[in-house]
Parts: sequence; structure tokens; C-alpha cells
Amino acid sequence: MTQSYDPGTEGAKMSFDDAMSYGDYLSLDTILSAQHPKSDAHDEMLFIIQHQTSELWMRLMLHELDAARRSIAADALQPAFKMLARVARIMEQLNSAWDVLRTMTPSDYTRFRAALGASSGFQSWQYRLIEFAAGNRNAAMLKPHAHRSDITALLVAELARPSLYDEALRAAHRAGLSVPDEVLNRDVGAPWTPHDGVEAAWRQVYADPETYWTLYDLAEKLVDFEDYFRRWRFNHVTTVERVIGLKRGTGGTGGVPYLRRMLEVELFPELWRLRTAL
Ligand code: HEM
Repeated sequence: MTQSYDPGTEGAKMSFDDAMSYGDYLSLDTILSAQHPKSDAHDEMLFIIQHQTSELWMRLMLHELDAARRSIAADALQPAFKMLARVARIMEQLNSAWDVLRTMTPSDYTRFRAALGASSGFQSWQYRLIEFAAGNRNAAMLKPHAHRSDITALLVAELARPSLYDEALRAAHRAGLSVPDEVLNRDVGAPWTPHDGVEAAWRQVYADPETYWTLYDLAEKLVDFEDYFRRWRFNHVTTVERVIGLKRGTGGTGGVPYLRRMLEVELFPELWRLRTAL
């Protein structure tokens, strides 16, 4: 009978007295003991796990983005495409995850919201690192991390590196596009300012994809990433409005109006603008 079948008889390892098990390898003791609800509200566990799993996926995104950026800097564009495609899929995974959170009603959330104090995703340093790495560099966002010198150091170090977009433009320049010098030599820690010369360079690629196929592929991978990122922001603000209406956020911003404003963030503006002129 299947119910009483012992997989040990076909060789499944059934004893881990002196070997690394699944739980050991994945540090499951640590991960599964890291949920500490601050109230006895049933839905707080959902809220915690939704955030924790998002942070785990963000950890992988940072791993992939970092490697993709290094590949682009080394003109190894094909491996970078594979990693950027994975990043977009991770974003899509995070987008689907909102469906689970949306099962939480405003009444459910109200039961534990006060227990969150001032904590908010606004203080997610991995999210800020992703934004900084992609190219959305707003030094004001360092402030909520001033109490953690280790995290501040990570964010400051990121601002000192060329962003993914900076590296993409440098690679495009090496591959024959004429990217303006002031863009190639810009202060990489400063926010991006859209540049007509950059738009003209990308337009050259889109006007003749066959000649610039690799750069065309690079540009579309970046657009994919931003497309999925925008969807994440939109799903977030819609979920937030559904759950807290127009109340202020626990992080202290105006809430939905602040998040709507963030919908206007553009990571790779020239890649969107050139489409109008094509
Ligand atoms: C019911 C669920 C949620 C509510 C009501 C909510 C609410 C908010 C609000 C109001 C803000 C604006 C900052 C503030 O004043 O607090 C915010 C920011 C943020 N939240 Fe959420 N959130 C929810 C779920 C999530 C989840 C699951 C994540 C995943 C990690 C997340 C990540 C973020 C991030 C990264 C920001 C900063 C966005 C930016 O500055 O552009 N949130 N959230």
C-alpha cells in the first residue's frame, strides 16, 4: 500500500545524525523562527510573511542586478540578458503575490496596524538599493537609515558606483553609439537628468535593429525591467488604497498620494521617450 510504503527501501536517506539535511542547508530554523507578530490578530502572519518573502526575492534581484551590471561593464552582454530576464520574472512573481495580500480587508488590517508603530516598507533598504542600482538615485532616501551605519555604508557605496543605466550607456558607447561625454563622465551619485543626446543614441538603435541587434536587446531588457517595476508600484498603491484608503502611512508620508507620485519615477526615460519619435 502506498500509505505504508517506506522510501528508505529504495535508498532514500532517512537518517541525518551526521549529514547535512534540507533544513540545515536552507537555515530553515532561522527563517521559520523569524516571524514575530506584535498582536494576536490572525492576519498579521500574512502581513509579515508577505513582506519577508518580498525581501527574499529582492535579495535575489540584487544578486542578479549586481552580476548583470558587472557583465555589461565587461561587454559580456549575453549573460547579462539572461540575468535581466530573471530579474523581470522575479518582479512578475512579486506582482502576483499582491493577490494573496489583497485577501486582507481594511477591518483585518486595522486589528494590528497600531502594532507596526512607525515601521513601513518605506524603510526597506533592499528596495532602495534596487532603485539606486537601477538608476533612481535620491540621496534623501539615505536618511531613514542613518541609525544603521552598516546599511548606510551599503547605500552610499551603491551611489558611488555607476548605475545599471550608466553601465548600459557606457557599453553602448563602446559598441559604437555616440553617447555624449557629459553623460559618460557625469557624477554617478546624482539623480539622472534626461538627455536628448542619449535619446538620439537609442533612437539610432531602434531605427536599425538589425545593425544594432545586441544593443536593441539590451534596451528592451531594460524596458522590460522598468515595465515590471512600474506594475509593482501600481499594484502596491492599488492594494494600499484598498486596505487603508487615504490614511497616512505608518512611515509618515501622505500614503496613497505619496505612492501615486512615485508612479511618475522614470528609470530609463530616454528609452520610453524615443518611442514617440519612431
Ligand atoms: C496592506 C499592505 C501594505 C500597506 C497598507 C502598505 C502601505 C504603504 C504606504 C502607506 C507606504 C508609503 C510610506 C509610508 O508612509 O508608510 C508604503 C511604502 C512602501 N511599501 Fe508598502 N504597504 C503594504 C504592503 C507592502 C508590501 C507587501 C511590500 C513589500 C516589500 C511593501 C513595500 C513598500 C516599499 C518598498 C515602500 C516604499 C515605496 C517608495 O518609497 O517608493 N509594502 N507602503
